[in-house]
Amino acid sequence: RQRLSHLSSLEDALGLLKNSKKIIVLSGAGISTSCGIPDFRSSTGLYAQLQEEGKYDLDDPQQMFDIHYFRERPEVFYSFAKQIYPSNFVPSPCHRWIKLLEDKGKLLRNYTQNIDTLESLAGVEKVLQCHGSFKTASCLRCKTRVPGQNIETFIMSQQIPYCPKCREEADRRQQMKKELKTGKGKGKALWDDDEEEEENEWGGGEPGIMKPNITFFGQALDSEFDECLFKDREEVDLLVIIGTSLKVAPVSEVLTHIPHSVPQIYINLTPVHHVKPDICLLGDADSIVTYLSSKLGWTIPAPAAIPL
Ligand code: OAD
Repeated sequence: RQRLSHLSSLEDALGLLKNSKKIIVLSGAGISTSCGIPDFRSSTGLYAQLQEEGKYDLDDPQQMFDIHYFRERPEVFYSFAKQIYPSNFVPSPCHRWIKLLEDKGKLLRNYTQNIDTLESLAGVEKVLQCHGSFKTASCLRCKTRVPGQNIETFIMSQQIPYCPKCREEADRRQQMKKELKTGKGKGKALWDDDEEEEENEWGGGEPGIMKPNITFFGQALDSEFDECLFKDREEVDLLVIIGTSLKVAPVSEVLTHIPHSVPQIYINLTPVHHVKPDICLLGDADSIVTYLSSKLGWTIPAPAAIPL
């Protein structure tokens, strides 16, 4: 990153923010901690809490979000999921600062790793939820996708939601097999070779388990991520990274996918050592973006009224 080695100061950051018109904001859990949502890897973060509590049967706290473990032990995730289900949180100054960049016509896109949907609540439209959200859920078996609300009561009551479509199919097959055995009903007539083949594919067994469409370790990100990045890399003129440890790929790789001539500003409580952004502003992200805005004469929008 030789070309940009002269950039390092707060003054440089202010100049870049003032002059850039196509900013990518890459955000993580650190922009929501002031809302009362823990991050993952801090000493008070979710992984430390899971480790300390020792309440769940996990070898490693990250297993809570591992697709292979989920397939084996879905009850573990569902006994915990209500803790991370988005509830009545209010967007932080950071979320509202991203909205401010959008209002100023400077935001190319906000790539967020967060699933709390607080960017949308702050009114940000150009946001990509790289790690998905609870907005929809899908069956692991037949891939049927449903609105997230359909499984909300299961999450809240810590139960495993099964796929209604698979259940219907399982019931239908059960009924046909019964009719085939007894020779009564339409089952015998309907049970042809195709049905036999489908039965083998179906493999008997239980209906599929529904999983919220948040990205687990071992799952690919939605193709929208690659599509957006492919487009945005041609246009971006500044990368602002806020509140993320940059430990999880492929989002952490955004840094290497955009041209090296694009300056990077990293705003975070703790430093990163495995990458070298041009400018590092270390401290509380809300305070830093508020300070930057005041220096630029910008006003961060107030939180929207929360409906009663
Ligand atoms: P991490 O917990 O790894 O990193 C959050 C970063 O935010 C840490 O470096 C903190 O120091 C910093 N931070 C915390 N509070 C802050 C504050 N008030 N101001 C500034 N910085 C603050 O969270 P992410 O990087 O978002 O994925 O984690 C990435 C992914 O790992 C998550 O999306 C999740 C997780 O496993 C999945 O579950 C797939």
